[in-house]
Amino acid sequence: MEKVRVGIIGAGSISDMHFQSYVRHEAVELVAVCDLNEARAMAKAEQHKIEKIYTDYHELLKNEDVDAVSICTWNNSHAEIAIAALEHNKHVLVEKPLSKTAEEAEKIREVSQKSDKTLQVGFVRRFATNTEVLKKFIDAGDLGEIYYAKASSLRVLGNPGGWFSDVERSGGGPLIDIGVHVIDICWYLMGKPKVKSVSGTVYHKLGNRSNIEHKSFYQAADYDPKQNSVEDLANALIKFENGATLMLDASFALHAKEDKTEVHLFGDKGGAMIEPELNIFTEKHNILLDLTPKIDARTFDFEKGFQNEIDHFVACCLEKETTISPVEDGIEIMKILEAIYESSRSGREVRFN
Ligand SMILES: NC(=O)c1ccc[n+]([C@@H]2O[C@H](COP(=O)([O-])OP(=O)(O)OC[C@H]3O[C@@H](n4cnc5c(N)ncnc54)[C@H](O)[C@@H]3O)[C@@H](O)[C@H]2O)c1
Repeated sequence: MEKVRVGIIGAGSISDMHFQSYVRHEAVELVAVCDLNEARAMAKAEQHKIEKIYTDYHELLKNEDVDAVSICTWNNSHAEIAIAALEHNKHVLVEKPLSKTAEEAEKIREVSQKSDKTLQVGFVRRFATNTEVLKKFIDAGDLGEIYYAKASSLRVLGNPGGWFSDVERSGGGPLIDIGVHVIDICWYLMGKPKVKSVSGTVYHKLGNRSNIEHKSFYQAADYDPKQNSVEDLANALIKFENGATLMLDASFALHAKEDKTEVHLFGDKGGAMIEPELNIFTEKHNILLDLTPKIDARTFDFEKGFQNEIDHFVACCLEKETTISPVEDGIEIMKILEAIYESSRSGREVRFN
């Protein structure tokens, strides 16, 4: 069987989902791992019996035994590593967001266009069971024209600190970290309409809420309660050329009852909610109906989502499939994210042409 030899760059939290999904794939051999933090790279190498360990990704990319890489580093290094990997003839799976800025994303596209290798953006929610099922209904026309979507990804107390709260390394806070997932899933299921304008506001009102006692939350390895330069709430209205609109909010800190992830799509023949649980709504014979799919996972199935994402990436490396999460989509999402920050800075709507 033809094998894809994979190297993983960035051996932190999310890399575990990449490692375990590659390990389960019979056509994959994990051959190299790289992290600035050598102990972290060594621990993963030992756990998965990986021979080559690097602390400099340039050295990993020189290894001709590596056919493909997963990039699981901080957002500020996605673009430079993706570009270098393509230039070394590697297939690339890069975690979301594609880059820190839209300009960097465009540079990745330039290099990608000259390469015959796959570049896949890690929009993992596209690979979740509930998304795949809903897409079948949408593609069959069951929702009709989707003219409105509404997405919330709200944490009451959930600024992870470390690089996530350092705007230089992350590019932003909840918007670029968790808002990105729900913006992408709406845009993807709406049929990737062309953006017309973006109006958004980000707030720095509550900080990282490190004062809160007796309530635990996920903290990055290098959490420092005194360091935080990212927004705690972002909201936006995104208008599309076809008349459709998307409303969004995303927070790391908010005075609210509880955390919430909600994604709704509204069409002229039916509506759907994907999160917290897939449901489809319509009417028949003048009767309102809830259609509840009888499927194993009606909410985002994290492990299956990553396994599907990586299975698809490997199939693309083997030229059996073409990625459903290409660089062009990563760029569009980066443009939306950047426009929200820009709109907030300027106090004006940002118009695309
Ligand atoms: N798809 C998802 O649902 C999902 C979930 C979490 C994180 N992510 C993304 O994955 C990426 C990593 O997030 P994480 O939570 O694993 O962070 P993390 O801090 O746990 O791990 C990142 C690792 O990258 C290493 N690193 C940073 N720059 C590097 C470089 N230039 N070369 C080599 N190693 C480098 C760090 O030392 C660290 O070990 C981010 O882009 C994040 O947005 C995606």
